Parts: sequence; structure tokens; C-alpha cells
Amino acid sequence: MTRSIMVVDDDVDILTILTFVFENRGYRVRKARDAEEALQMVARFVPDLFILDISLPGIDGIELCRRLRAQARTRSVPIIFVTARDQPESIVQGFEAGGDDYVVKPFNMQELVARVENLLRRVREVAPPKEEREGRVIAITGARGGIGKTTLAVNLALCLTRMWADEVVLVDASLEFGRAAVLLDLQNARDMQALLQEATEALERDYLEETYLSVHPSGLRFLASPLSPADVEAIGPEEMERLIRILRPVYGYIVCDLAPSLREPYRTLLRLADRVVVVVTPEVAALVATQSLLQALSMMEVPSESILLVLNNFPAAENSPARKEIETFLGFPLASVIPGDLARIPSAANAGRPPILEPEESDFSQAIIETTYYLSTNLRRAH
Ligand SMILES: Nc1ncnc2c1ncn2[C@@H]1O[C@H](COP(=O)(O)OP(=O)(O)OP(=O)(O)O)[C@@H](O)[C@H]1O
Ligand SMILES: [Mg+2]
Repeated sequence: MTRSIMVVDDDVDILTILTFVFENRGYRVRKARDAEEALQMVARFVPDLFILDISLPGIDGIELCRRLRAQARTRSVPIIFVTARDQPESIVQGFEAGGDDYVVKPFNMQELVARVENLLRRVREVAPPKEEREGRVIAITGARGGIGKTTLAVNLALCLTRMWADEVVLVDASLEFGRAAVLLDLQNARDMQALLQEATEALERDYLEETYLSVHPSGLRFLASPLSPADVEAIGPEEMERLIRILRPVYGYIVCDLAPSLREPYRTLLRLADRVVVVVTPEVAALVATQSLLQALSMMEVPSESILLVLNNFPAAENSPARKEIETFLGFPLASVIPGDLARIPSAANAGRPPILEPEESDFSQAIIETTYYLSTNLRRAH
């Protein structure tokens, strides 16, 4: 795991040298020129160690150290002061403010490196690294448009939220014409493109939620697809992979609503997913298309154990194939059947109030609950 160091110094030469030295040793280095900038940065990323200059313009290093010690998220991050030789009293102040070590300017680089590594080693020994969380990725896909993928994604995500509270994020990964936000009556100021432009790695949860996600009253977190069509092309397979890397350490469940497409970014999500929900409707054309989709998934080496085939039973015509026929045709068992409900579902979509949130229990809600239960209890990492 890459360790990160934040250096706070108004001396650009020091910032440059320290960055060079520590990056060469495999650290990620973040630089701040003053305390305010440093505090803004820690709202987003907490480094593994701070190197603070004492005499900074504005808030000085000692006060910055006090503030870092006062925040829960930075309370136990080691701090090394660098200070000019003629300020012995500030060294004492530095320790009183919660600093762990100091070096005197001009300092010997090897000594500083040794002190940094020593402190990091001690911290590791005292507190073993917290277990890296790995959120489960659930991709909702299907071989055709308008077959209820988004409807299911939204309702499944809300149902997971009921069980797992603030652990669920719904990603509108229907890049071209995503509209999951409408079903949830959410307005989005920011989208995944904005997030991807800023972040290369996991962000602090609070910052992520304040800046890029919406929080639905149910507790479900939501990340919008690109709000501008011009940004759609900017999201390729690497961006999708990075997006999942950013979200996985923060959330227990990452539900992705995909477009009916096998373009590269979608393939990436399908490969990364722990579960792929394939939605199918009872129409011959949909079945033929789904057959191709299942073949494509198999060629992409998506394990069949991680695929959940869900029948969205609308619109059921007189001569619609029955459940058994569908299973035989596709050579795949159906995990669940969602009833068609033309009285409820389209109007719920227009109102921005998903049916699963309604107090009275409908067959639709019941089927969603069963599917969610199935999803979450059988959800072991497939790879
Ligand atoms: N079980 C159902 N009963 C009745 N109507 C439904 C059902 N499922 C979905 N619908 C309706 O079908 C329409 C299409 O649904 P939805 O947008 O969820 O499909 P989609 O597969 O996500 O489409 P797209 O490929 O365009 O993203 C919507 O109007 C929705 O309200
Ligand atoms: Mg959709």
C-alpha cells in the first residue's frame, strides 16, 4: 500500500526537495503552502504522516498541529516538525501541541527519512492497519432498453439501504441517458465526471458526500452520470475502474445502473462486479438478445455464479413465454420474478417516489425484498 505524507511549508524549495526525496522512496507526497490549505486538504485525504514547518504565514505550524490533534480523523497521524535552529522554545511548544518529533533546518535528508520511517513503523506496530473495506459491486444490466433496469436498480438499492443504512451508494452508470435521479426526485449539482476529474484514490467519506454525491432522505447515496453529454466520452474503462476504487473502501454496497450496452466502460463494470443482475422481459426478442448478452458475459469470464437472472414480468402478452420456457431457452435459472404493475410503477417514476418506499406492501415490493435478500445473502466475492 502506498504511504502518503503531507508536507506543509511556505518554502517552495523545501516542498520540491521533500517531494523528490519521498516520491523516490515510493511515498505519495501532498504539498500545502500554509495551514489553511493543509486543513482544506485533510478534509479530502488524510495522509499517513505530516511534516510541518513551524513558521508559516497566517496560522503557524504549532496551531496547525493543535487543530489536527483536535479532529478525530487526524488525531493519531504522526507529525514531524521542521524548524529553524534558533527556536528551542518552539520545539517544546511543538511537543506540547501534540507533535511527535522534530528536525532542525537545515536538516540532513537521511536523518529526516529515518525519522519518518521510524515513526511510521511505530504507528504500524501499535495500531495494525485497519482492515481495508471492500464494498460489493452490484451491476444491473440487460440486453435491451426500457426493460426496467433502472426501476430495479433504484428499488433494490433502496431496499439494501433499509438493511444497511448509510452503506449503500447507487451509481447512475447509464452514461448516455441516465435518469435514475428522476426516479428518486434528486437534483444533482455534481456528477461522476467532476469526481473523476479530482480524485485518483479513495476520498474521505464526508468530503465525498458533501461535494459529489446526493443523499436521498432514505439514506441512499447517489452519484449521477455525466450531466453534460460532452463528458460521456471522457469516461472510459480506466475511469470506471478508478471510480470503483474510490467508492469501494467507503461503501458496503455499490449498485450500478448500466445502459444496455457492451461498450468498454460497461464491460469494465461487468468484470469488476461481484454480482451482475441481468434483467429480462418475457418477449421473444428480449430473450434472443439476452442469450447474446449471457454469451458475451461468459466470454468476458464473468462467472455464472455471480449472475442473477431476473424476470421483469412486463409487458406480459397473451402468448408471452412462461417462466419455465424462459429458463429452458436461456439455459439459465431465474433468480426472481418481478411482477408487472402498470398501475403503480410508471406513476411512481413520474412522482419520483419509488414503490418500495410506499408503506403498503405490494407484490412488486415483495418481489424486490426477496431479490434483495437473495442478493445480499449470496453475495460473496466471486473473484
Ligand atoms: N415491473 C414493471 N411494471 C410496470 N412498469 C414497469 C415495470 N418495470 C419498469 N416499468 C416501466 O418501464 C419503463 C422503463 O423502465 P426503466 O427506465 O427502468 O427501464 P431501463 O431498462 O432502465 O431503460 P433504459 O435502457 O432506457 O435505461 C418505465 O416507464 C418504468 O416505469
Ligand atoms: Mg435505465
